Amino acid sequence: MALEQDKSQPDSADSLVWDLPLRLFHGALALSLVGSWVTAKAGFDWTETHFLFGYTALGLISFRLIWGLLGTTHARFHNFLTGPKSVLRAFGQLKKKTQPGEISHVGHGPLGGWASVVLLALAMTQAVSGLFISDDIFYAGPYNSAVSDSLADYLGWLHHTNFDILLAAVALHLVAIIWYLLGKNENLIKPMITGKKNIGPSIAQSKIQLGIHSNFVWRGVFIGVFVLGMVLLLVNLAPEPEYF
Ligand code: HEM
Ligand code: HEM
Repeated sequence: MALEQDKSQPDSADSLVWDLPLRLFHGALALSLVGSWVTAKAGFDWTETHFLFGYTALGLISFRLIWGLLGTTHARFHNFLTGPKSVLRAFGQLKKKTQPGEISHVGHGPLGGWASVVLLALAMTQAVSGLFISDDIFYAGPYNSAVSDSLADYLGWLHHTNFDILLAAVALHLVAIIWYLLGKNENLIKPMITGKKNIGPSIAQSKIQLGIHSNFVWRGVFIGVFVLGMVLLLVNLAPEPEYF
């Protein structure tokens, strides 16, 4: 695929790297997972709200998977999922300080890229397993009656166990970002909020993919509406629940 380059901006200016739909997705995913966690722990009265947060997470991750194919340059999976050699090299570079005014990668680096996919996969496993499980007392996910009791039990175990792994992965995600900030002198947080990075001359001259032209907001809205429709359909087509 031809890489989009922002030729309108001088080398030293801030360039748009993370589009708005991706940034909104990131913030909303974090909020929906925190919301799912809090409502899961808050007792029976909050179970229906837990489901709503869970459906939101499911929709957001589905959006991101489509955005990974149809989104802007740095959002696309094939532009940031690299082979084992560059992952190993990136591990080796973890200790190296980034020089002032420089960045190590325009979009995700090899480690950040794979970490993103792992976080997405864990969050997806969490949301999908929730659809099939029950608390054996009052509440059941919408597809609980569509699976056997033993499969529902297994998915219930997965929903609990996977959540601990997801928590650990998010903690590692935050540690990595703090390490970049304090250990490597590179602030990854600001670009995830503003969308912009200062692409230093060394990277700009190397002619690898630079900034993006646009936020592609309408494309994001279109995919967002499509995903919302799919999640509503999924919930409304669910079989009649079995009451305990
Ligand atoms: C439940 C909490 C969180 C989850 C599940 C999560 C998940 C993710 C995912 C999936 C990505 C990849 C973005 C993409 O390509 O779509 C990402 C990137 C990123 N996240 Fe988070 N995130 C969480 C919280 C946070 C917080 C609190 C911060 C800031 C302090 C943060 C900072 C970042 C940054 C800076 C990146 C970009 C890393 C890079 O440049 O490669 N995240 N996060
Ligand atoms: C990705 C978002 C989700 C997260 C982070 C999450 C997290 C959790 C956690 C931590 C628990 C255990 C609470 C405890 O017993 O201490 C739980 C329980 C539960 N979740 Fe989720 N969940 C999510 C999505 C869903 C969805 C989409 C559904 C169904 C629509 C769902 C249905 C349930 C049910 C029925 C229970 C009770 C299971 C039991 O008592 O054994 N969850 N969830």
